[in-house]
This record gives sequence, structure tokens and C-alpha cells, in this order.
Amino acid sequence: MAVPARSTAYAAGAARPVTPVAIAARELARLVQQAEAGSVGSGLGQEWLAQLRECRDLVAGIDPYLERCTTPESPDLQALARHTREVDWATGPGAGHLEQEMLSGHVEGQLLKMLIHLTRAQRVLEIGMFTGYSALAMAEALGPDGRVVACEIDEYVAGIARECLSASQAGHKVSVRMGPALETLAQAARAGERFDLVFVDADKGGYSGYLNAVLELDLLSPHGVVCVDNTLMQGQPYLDRSPTPNGEDIAAFNREVAGDPRVEQVLVPLRDGLTLIRRVDR
Ligand SMILES: C[S@@+](CC[C@H](N)C(=O)[O-])C[C@H]1O[C@@H](n2cnc3c(N)ncnc32)[C@H](O)[C@@H]1O
Repeated sequence: MAVPARSTAYAAGAARPVTPVAIAARELARLVQQAEAGSVGSGLGQEWLAQLRECRDLVAGIDPYLERCTTPESPDLQALARHTREVDWATGPGAGHLEQEMLSGHVEGQLLKMLIHLTRAQRVLEIGMFTGYSALAMAEALGPDGRVVACEIDEYVAGIARECLSASQAGHKVSVRMGPALETLAQAARAGERFDLVFVDADKGGYSGYLNAVLELDLLSPHGVVCVDNTLMQGQPYLDRSPTPNGEDIAAFNREVAGDPRVEQVLVPLRDGLTLIRRVDR
């Protein structure tokens, strides 16, 4: 879940930076502006300013380049992302606990699609659906018999997701399960369900419980993979300053996973970090 890095106000519809790269790009752009305006001190010199500009361009260019080099999103995903941007998150029913920056987006959606193709997943579990972007992306990658079970606790965003999913080609493959995800997981286990790919993207304090439930309730199929979002949490787990509660939760989760003999994992520095986990204890 994204948390404000500063009190800067962003115009309606404009996403604020919520990933380590985007935050670093914003800070470098500020430094360049200050240096150009001469407010950082007079002795900096043109060479120093040129190096600072190069750092800004290196960092600021990564995300747009990833977007350009990645297969474009489908018209349905574009429409869902546009609709999500147009919602009034500041004063509407989601105000205070939901925001447009929660949506994973184009490049991460395409990575999830690629993982579904690579693993030949048929049954997918999503923990934290929001307005349905990643659920729809994964549904688009599934074959005709594939299914995404999407867990969500908030009726307001689930309503938006249902609307967008029913207007899309692949949305019929998503089945929305309302309620606290841990309860939904327990019900799925009682029904003997198993999943080839699990995407965890809900409350950060719940991550450890979700991974444990998936492993202990035997919800993962033998070659299944668990993908956990926001494991870089804006850089907070490795920065030497006070983290937010989300930063602390993710740092603790990352430590737990790193020391868990049941699994093998890799943290991919895409967007706000995506950890890929597989079982190695059976
Ligand atoms: C970061 S958003 C998910 C974004 C979505 N995966 C996407 O890519 O667009 C997190 C979502 O998790 C939901 N959530 C939070 N706690 C939950 C819980 N205990 N059970 C189910 N969903 C939960 C929130 O309501 C929110 O919609």
C-alpha cells in the first residue's frame, strides 16, 4: 500500500511517485532545479551541475523506457487504468485508505502475464484486487479454462472492479471473493483448492500471515510460485531512517522470507519491488 513520502500535493489524476526510482528521480530533479537557480551555493561549477543532470536523466529515464520496451497493455487494461485515475480518491468513499497509486500498472501487469505463460498457470489467487488491474492482466494471460480468484475486503473498489471486469473480454475469468483474505484462504483450503500462481498485494502487515497460510494450508500447487508486491516499499527497508509502519512490516517480512528454509526467493527491483517465491521443502 502506498504511503506519502512528503506532504507535496499532486494534481487530481496525477500519480505521485511511490517507487524508489520515481522518488529518487523527483529528488534529483529538485536538486537540479535548485542548482540551476543558484540556490545551492555559488562554487558548484558547470561540471558538477552536468553530472547532477546526468544522474537525474539516468534515473528519470528508466521507468518511461521500461514502458516503451514492454508489450503495450490491452485496450481493456488501458480503460481500467484510466477509469481508476478518474475516480475521486481524495474525497470519495475510498478517501483516506485507498488511492490510485495502488494500481500495479502496465509493466508489472505484463510481468505477471509473462509469469503465467512461463509457469503455464491455470489457477491464480490474488490477495488484494483493488480496481482489478492485475486480476484482469492475469486473466488475459490465462487459457479459456483458467481462473483468477481475487480477494478483496473493500466493497467500494470491488464495485469499480466488477464494472470494469464485466466490460472487458477476459473479466469473466475473475471470480471476486469478498472479506478478509485470511478467511477466504481458509475457505479455499477447506474446499481443496490449489493455485499455480499467487499474487500478494494487500495490507502489508498481513503479508507474513498470507505466505504462511498459503504454505501451511497447502494452497500452492507443486510447481506454484508466490509473487509478493511492494517488497522494496519505497526503499524504506534499506534506508537508514525511520520507516513508516508499512516500511517496518515489509522489512520484517523480507527478513522472515530470507530466513525461511521452506522457500527460495528473489527480489526483482521492478517498480516497488516484486519478490518471487517457490517452495523447496517438498
Ligand atoms: C495495493 S491494492 C491492490 C492493487 C491491485 N493488485 C492492482 O494491481 O491494481 C491493495 C488492496 O488490498 C485490499 N485489502 C487490504 N486488506 C485486505 C484484506 N485483509 N483482505 C482482502 N483485501 C484487502 C485493499 O482494499 C486494496 O484494494
